[in-house]
Amino acid sequence: MKKILVTGGTGYIGSHTVVELIQAGYETVVVDNLSNSKTGALEGIEKITGIKPSFECIDLCDKSSLDHLLSKHKDIVAAIHFAACKAVGESVQQPLKYYRNNFTSLINLLELMSQQAIEYLVFSSSCTVYGQPEKLPVTEQAPIQPATSPYGNTKQVCETIIRDTIAASTIKSIALRYFNPIGAHASALIGELPVGVPNNLVPFITQTAIGIREQLSVFGNDYNTPDGSCIRDYIHVVDLAKAHVTAVERLINKNNKNSFEIFNLGTGKGVSVLELIRTFEKVSGVKLNYKITGRRAGDTEQVWADTSFANRELGWKAQSTLEETLLSAWKWEQYYKETGGWK
Ligand code: UFG
Repeated sequence: MKKILVTGGTGYIGSHTVVELIQAGYETVVVDNLSNSKTGALEGIEKITGIKPSFECIDLCDKSSLDHLLSKHKDIVAAIHFAACKAVGESVQQPLKYYRNNFTSLINLLELMSQQAIEYLVFSSSCTVYGQPEKLPVTEQAPIQPATSPYGNTKQVCETIIRDTIAASTIKSIALRYFNPIGAHASALIGELPVGVPNNLVPFITQTAIGIREQLSVFGNDYNTPDGSCIRDYIHVVDLAKAHVTAVERLINKNNKNSFEIFNLGTGKGVSVLELIRTFEKVSGVKLNYKITGRRAGDTEQVWADTSFANRELGWKAQSTLEETLLSAWKWEQYYKETGGWK
């Protein structure tokens, strides 16, 4: 059984990827500092797969702890690196926290991968690197725009750090540029766990629907889009998780065509905020209390993915409909309330 290191493996996308890796026959070693996740994710993973993954609470900025862990698992063949700070607004308030954490973690990981001869890295990147693209749908060749937040900047610079490291080592990597991951595992045993008031649309919607929040604000209806609200490409987190298994297999099986490859992970379909609200109301049967407010600073007007490169090269395609995806998010919110939540 091949062993994969999953950093940030108790987080939202990380935990769903651990499930898919286990179900595809891999052994996982999960590390996380639990700064934005809970060990309840590990119990959820165990209930779904029947396997409790090996877990260590490690901060990747602490290089000696990571070194110690890797020397205990000398048979790790690849790393999937999710662990990072990811709140756009917080990154504007606390840029050094973002630069220190996101850069130091990646640098420590890359240095130790070289030392331990771990050759393969799958990296969590973001469509934020495109800013507002001139042409839609956006392809991987679209120019990188100056980042509008320190968070976005860390994604751009981390891609560069990986590219430069690969040129000077035997490491090979795939960076996956996520569009907007939403939804939860069909079992409702794992899902997104926002700390405090959610910044993202779908957790805010489900929390409003269940009564935790009173009203959703729709940030602007005066954009240059058909209904005036912003457009995004919302992808089911399980589809996204499966792409990580495909990417890591491509590296392990040496099917990659370049030592550094980049793929868009989206559905290829743009959906407006108002369309998404209407679809949520339809699948949940809940009438959502929302109002149109002003634009949120820094929002991109519209972006959705050209997924043809990922479809062709990875042989991967998002499968879930928006209805299924939103229903899974709603089931997760309800399950979380019914069970009293993770400790
Ligand atoms: N929105 C609302 N009300 C809310 C929250 C969001 O109307 O309460 C709107 C936003 O204005 C935007 C859309 O819903 O138009 C999606 O917003 P999200 O915050 O859910 O997602 P973003 O597209 O802003 O951000 C996501 C990730 C970031 C990443 C970015 C890349 O959360 O980490 O995509 O574009 F950087």
